[in-house]
Amino acid sequence: MAPDVIPIAAAKLRHQLAARLADGGWLRSPAWRAAVEAVPRHEFVRCFYRQTDAPGLTTWTPVTADLLGVEEWLRQAYADDTLITQFDGQEIDWTDPEPVVGAHPTSSSTLPALVVHMLEELRLHDGMSVMEIGTGTGYSAALMCHRLSPGRVTSIETDPDVAARARDALKRCGYAPRLVVGDGLAGFPEGAPYDRTIATCGVRHVPYAWVRQTRPGGLVLTTLRGWMRSLGLVRLTVGHDGRAEGRFIDGDPSFMIARQQDAPASLGTIPAPDNGSSRTTPYGPGVLTTARHGFVAQLAMPGVRFFSMPDDDGTPCTYVLDGTNESFAVLTSKSDDAWNVRQGGPVALWDVLESSLDTWCTAGSPEPTEFGVTVTAKSQRVWLGAPDGPSWRLPAPAETADGFV
Ligand SMILES: C[S@@+](CC[C@H](N)C(=O)[O-])C[C@H]1O[C@@H](n2cnc3c(N)ncnc32)[C@H](O)[C@@H]1O
Repeated sequence: MAPDVIPIAAAKLRHQLAARLADGGWLRSPAWRAAVEAVPRHEFVRCFYRQTDAPGLTTWTPVTADLLGVEEWLRQAYADDTLITQFDGQEIDWTDPEPVVGAHPTSSSTLPALVVHMLEELRLHDGMSVMEIGTGTGYSAALMCHRLSPGRVTSIETDPDVAARARDALKRCGYAPRLVVGDGLAGFPEGAPYDRTIATCGVRHVPYAWVRQTRPGGLVLTTLRGWMRSLGLVRLTVGHDGRAEGRFIDGDPSFMIARQQDAPASLGTIPAPDNGSSRTTPYGPGVLTTARHGFVAQLAMPGVRFFSMPDDDGTPCTYVLDGTNESFAVLTSKSDDAWNVRQGGPVALWDVLESSLDTWCTAGSPEPTEFGVTVTAKSQRVWLGAPDGPSWRLPAPAETADGFV
């Protein structure tokens, strides 16, 4: 494909992408549709990786115009897919990109359906200002620049290399948001107050700085997640009293976690076989992995991760470890519907989980959208049904001299 034909081909692919997103119900308003049809995503993803379906360890294959040809690169750049642009916080040598195996993605251009879903749910109006946490490739910042008046978009990226690439792409395309390189968990007070705050990385708790920097009546939209799984997308309205409150609007979306909140490298200490006390339980490890029980498990045990492996005599075991306090629960199968759990450490993890699951079942096993979140300067809670309903504390944020970050 001749270089001068690229803009024409890309414009056609953008219109097709917008039509697909509208058909899927993600793209609902003319203003966002115009943005998707205008912003050249391919300029933000000149080089990226896509996951391949090969069995075994997860493998990622590089995609560039040189490797696949301009036509295929463009087609993939406008697919409704997440396009990975960095692994393990390390820059890629794009002059000779190799397949990547078993690495951990740390930056991307998010799935367009999720990007526009979030932008629609952000309820932006003309003239509003917005703070984005997680610039990534700069694509979502460009969409917001297209939608809003110049100078109304602030976007923060923690990784200087990622931020530099986004800055170049945005400049090439003629968009000029305020780009900040730094830890977005602290927000950017110099630009506050914002009408809207949106995070495109997941957080374990809502940084109170975001509430402080969003004007009363404004909205904070973010995905909450733990070290086991995502809790989903939540939209909080900031009140005049410094409290932000709102419901989960979707239980599915998942983002890579804010780097400063990532799980420690070590899973924790594997307990000795004679450590802890045992009893039977009706709940097996499946409650950690099924979507609906898993949501409750994540709330009940915010510091936990788990893995399965046979013990010394070959019995399959699931180890549930809370590295923040050295509590553990080890599950082994007794029969089709009964398990043995051996627990130890300061918190009886499986007791806490069972109590949460009982509360949830008694309430009729509601969907994540029946849960909400209240954030104040002193505490953060996820509640069921209403703010005075059963609730779970989100993991404690770090305290600073002027409150919680
Ligand atoms: C999923 S990507 C963002 C996608 C991007 N909005 C786009 O449309 O291309 C998440 C980004 O969040 C960044 N990030 C992680 N923790 C952060 C933090 N504490 N502050 C700012 N950015 C952060 C990552 O480096 C990564 O680039």
